[in-house]
Amino acid sequence: MLITLRRVRLSAPFLGVLCAAGLLLTGCDKKPAPAPGASPTPAAQPSATAAPAASVAPTVAPTPTPLPTPSPTPEDPLATPIGFFAPLSGPQASFGSDSINGARLAVEEINAAGGILGHPLKLVVKDTQSLPDETATVVNELIDKDKVVALIGEIATDRSLVAAPIAQARGVPMITPASTHQLVTAAGNFVFRACYTDSFQAEVMAKFARSIDVEKAAVLFDPTNPYGIGLAEIFKRDFQAHHGTIVAEQTYRAGDTDFTSQLTLIKGANPEVIFLPSYFAEAALVIKQARALGIDTPFIGTDGWDSPEFLRIGGTAVDNSYFSSHFSAESQDPKVAGFVATYGTKYNAPPPPLAALTYDSVYLIAEALKRAGQANPAALRDALAATKDFVGVTGKIAFDQDRNPRKSAVVIRLQDGKFTYLETVQP
Ligand code: PHE
Repeated sequence: MLITLRRVRLSAPFLGVLCAAGLLLTGCDKKPAPAPGASPTPAAQPSATAAPAASVAPTVAPTPTPLPTPSPTPEDPLATPIGFFAPLSGPQASFGSDSINGARLAVEEINAAGGILGHPLKLVVKDTQSLPDETATVVNELIDKDKVVALIGEIATDRSLVAAPIAQARGVPMITPASTHQLVTAAGNFVFRACYTDSFQAEVMAKFARSIDVEKAAVLFDPTNPYGIGLAEIFKRDFQAHHGTIVAEQTYRAGDTDFTSQLTLIKGANPEVIFLPSYFAEAALVIKQARALGIDTPFIGTDGWDSPEFLRIGGTAVDNSYFSSHFSAESQDPKVAGFVATYGTKYNAPPPPLAALTYDSVYLIAEALKRAGQANPAALRDALAATKDFVGVTGKIAFDQDRNPRKSAVVIRLQDGKFTYLETVQP
C-alpha cells in the first residue's frame, strides 16, 4: 500500500502540487479539461507547473529524461475522462471535499497500477456550488465539452435528481456515490448508485428507535427537500408498523437558524425520540437548541448528518443521538483497514463515509471499463449493470434491476462529541 502511494506521488507531482489545495480544485481541473477537439495538453512534459516547479528548479538537472515510471499520467491525451461533480463550495462544501478526496485517491491508485485498458483515468472536476441549477450546467459541460465517459455525482438527492435525467437523456452512465432517495435511479438505466436507499435507512432507524424501547416519536423535516420528505414519510410508516406512535410533526426550511417554535411544540407532545432526517448544519443547530430548551430525548437521524462539520457545530450538545451511515473507519475488515491506512497517509485523517463511497464509485467504473473492453459510455453502462461481487470498502455491491445495491447500514452514536460505531444492520 505504502509503496503504491509513493509511486503515485512521484508519477503525478505536477497534478498533485497544482491540485493539492482543495481551494484550487475547480481552477486546476478546468485546465486539463481541453480533452477533445483542440490539440490536447500542451506537451507530455510536466513543464506545466511553472509556479511550484520554480522552487525546485535550481536542483533539477536540465535533463529531458522523464521519471522511469511506466505509469500513464492524467496528461496522456488518451486518458479516459471521468466527470466528477460535487458541492465544492456553498453550504455543503464539506460533502464535496470528503467526496473528492476519495475520488482522487482511487484514481491515483488505479493510474499507478497502469490505468485501465492501457490509459490513465482523468478526473474532470466540477463544482456544483451546492446548487441544482449549477448542477445542470456542469453536467452538461462535462458531457459536451469534456466528453466524459461516465459521471460521478452528486452527493445530495435534490441535485442528483437534476443530474440523473440529463445523464439518462445523453446516454452517459452516472453513479451517485451517496444520493439515497428512491427516485434518483428511477431516471433510467444509465443511473446507478453506490449507496443504499432511503427506504432501507428509514426502516433501519425506525427499527432502531423501537429497539431502544421508545414508543412515541416526533418528526422534524424540511418539506422543500425531497430527501427530508421521503425519509419522514418512510420513517412514519415503518415506525407505526412497528407499533410506535407519531406524536408530533414539524417542519423547517433549509437555511433556517432558529427552530425554537417547532421545538417548543414538539416538547409539548412529549416524544421519547425525535426523528430528524436532515443535513448536518440544520441537524446540529436543531439539537443544540433542543438541549437548551431542556429537551433531553435522543434524536435520531440519517446519513445527511455525516460530516465532521456536524461535530464542529454541535459539540457535545449532540450527544445522546444516533444516525444511520454507510461506512465506519473502525471496521476490522482487512480491505477497510488497508483503505483507512492509505487514506490516512495521504490526508492525515480517517476516511469519512463520503470519501469511502466515492472511492468505491471510481473503482466500480474502473472495473466495468475493464470488462467493457472499451471506453465507450454505452458499453460501460452495460458492464456496470452487470456488476456482481464487487468488493468495495463500503461493502459488496451487485446492482439489482433498478441499479441499486443491497448494502448494510451502520448505526453511529454520538458520544462525548464524537462519532462512535454502534452496529451494522444487514438488509
Ligand atoms: N444521502 C444524502 C442525500 O441523498 C447525501 C449524503 C450521503 C450526505 C452521505 C452525507 C453523507 O441527499
